[in-house]
Amino acid sequence: MQIHKLKPYHILDCEHLNSIQSECIFIIQNKLSTWQGDTWIDSTDCTIQFYKQCSSLREWLAQNNWKVKTTAITYIDGTEKRRNIPPHIDQLPILTRVNIPILNCDQAIVSLFSISDEYRKTLDLKDQESCSLDINQCTKINEYFLKQPIVFNTQVPHSVDPIPDAQYPRIMLTLTLFDELLDYLK
Ligand SMILES: [Fe+2]
Repeated sequence: MQIHKLKPYHILDCEHLNSIQSECIFIIQNKLSTWQGDTWIDSTDCTIQFYKQCSSLREWLAQNNWKVKTTAITYIDGTEKRRNIPPHIDQLPILTRVNIPILNCDQAIVSLFSISDEYRKTLDLKDQESCSLDINQCTKINEYFLKQPIVFNTQVPHSVDPIPDAQYPRIMLTLTLFDELLDYLK
C-alpha cells in the first residue's frame, strides 16, 4: 500500500476536547520549568504522571480502545526565530499520529503538498527526525487549521506557518498508538 496516496488527515469526534485542553494546560503550567526546547517528549515517569492527571484523555482513549505508544507535547512560545516549519515528511516507520489541539493551534496554517514519485524515491525517510524537502519540488494541495483532533498521515509532505500576529504559546499534543489508524485515511 502506498501510504502517501491515502487521505492526508481525518477529523476525529471528541466530546472530551474541552476537558482534555484544560487538563493539559494545567499540567503544562506546572511542568514548564523542567522542559528543554520547544518539544517535550515524555520520559516514562512523566508519561505516567501526565496520564494520571489527564483523566478525560484517558477516557477518550479507552472509548476508542487505543493504546498509546508515545506522547509528545509541542510547545511553541513564539520567542524563537524558527517560527515556521518548512515542508518536510515525518520520520518512518510511524505512519499515523493523533494530533490534538491544546492551545492556539488555529493560529497556524498547516499546508499539505504533493511531490512526484521520482523525487520521493530520492529521499531518506528513515534516518532522521524528519526529512526536509526542496520547496521547488512541492505542489500545495490543501491546508487546514488544527481545531479538532485528527489522525494525520505522516507521509504527506507538510509545513506549518503561523498566521500574521499569531497568539502564543501554541500547544499541541501528539500521540502515536500501538496500532496504526490507516482505516481512517482510506
Ligand atoms: Fe511534521
